[in-house]
Amino acid sequence: MKPVGLDIGTNYTKTTADGKEVLTFPSLVVFGEERDWSLKASHKDIYIGDEALTIVQNVENVEILRPLHEGRVMHKSYLELAKHALKTLDVNDAIIATGLPVKSSRKEREDVVKSLETELKAKVLLFPEPVGTMAHMGVETGVCIDIGFGTTDIVVISHMEYLKGDTLLMGVDRLYENLEVTVRNKAGISLTPEEMTMLLMNENFEIGRIRGGKRISVSHGDIIEDYRDLMVSWAERIANRAKMIVEGLSTTIVDNIILTGGGSALPGVFEEFRKSFEDVGTISTPKDPMKANALGYYTLAKVYSGETPEEKAETPEEQKDQGKEESKKKKK
Ligand SMILES: Nc1ncnc2c1ncn2[C@@H]1O[C@H](COP(=O)(O)OP(=O)(O)OP(=O)(O)O)[C@@H](O)[C@H]1O
Ligand SMILES: [Mg+2]
Repeated sequence: MKPVGLDIGTNYTKTTADGKEVLTFPSLVVFGEERDWSLKASHKDIYIGDEALTIVQNVENVEILRPLHEGRVMHKSYLELAKHALKTLDVNDAIIATGLPVKSSRKEREDVVKSLETELKAKVLLFPEPVGTMAHMGVETGVCIDIGFGTTDIVVISHMEYLKGDTLLMGVDRLYENLEVTVRNKAGISLTPEEMTMLLMNENFEIGRIRGGKRISVSHGDIIEDYRDLMVSWAERIANRAKMIVEGLSTTIVDNIILTGGGSALPGVFEEFRKSFEDVGTISTPKDPMKANALGYYTLAKVYSGETPEEKAETPEEQKDQGKEESKKKKK
């Protein structure tokens, strides 16, 4: 059986069949309607990922399905994304390791495993989301905070055994909602989450719209200060909840604190957590926090399939380097 790491997130699906290349596509599903005319030989019933995003951005009134909402699984679209992932990876006989939010219900987990196994004819292993990153970094005892788009998931594990955890309904979406209101009040235009990410991550980026016959634009520089103010209080709220979870734990467990998920890669977020946890322990982060869960699930699938992973986990040096780089960046 071929090991596959599959991370179906609220915003993006990340998947890998070799532990190196991670395929990423928007977690979007659109069911096609019968059109009045057909200009192409084949009519598609379903659009997934980037194709679905194009439709959403260009056509109004289409029904968009997202697989996860506020940490809950929406079945039909979840399965479609999983099928699309395997098809694109060109894998048939798969052993899939995947994750769900820490506080998903037992029933939800059973349903997901059962339906994935039947529909994809695969063996499925299910983990609490952040465990993927921990496996990727070779950490068997520690704390992991995964800031995703829809939820932030926190787990504490000891010798690869689950001790405690939580799912907060506070992901990047909460931060973006507030920033979107600020931008709308200032410039009069609404931005999609994808546009917001582009603006925040690229210093020279600008987004323009036509409003009342005029061009209106918003640039990175226009929003970055408002972003920083909102980000600091958002990060503090998440950090405080994480601190409540580690309260009372042995310091040997808290020696390894990992920050992961796309949210941790947004400007200044890692640095805020580093400062906030200064008196608790050192925080590290994987090289690519958005892809780390998928890579770790792959490692786990490989271990369970009986093969030993030939790839070494990211070393502690690399983790620390990243921390240093972040602090250096800040000082500049
Ligand atoms: N290079 C990047 N490309 C796209 N988004 C990025 C990037 N770096 C950081 N982000 C941020 O990460 C967010 C997505 O994070 P991630 O993929 O971890 O969430 P998710 O897994 O889809 O959500 P959840 O885990 O809550 O279900 C984006 O909305 C964006 O704000
Ligand atoms: Mg995620």
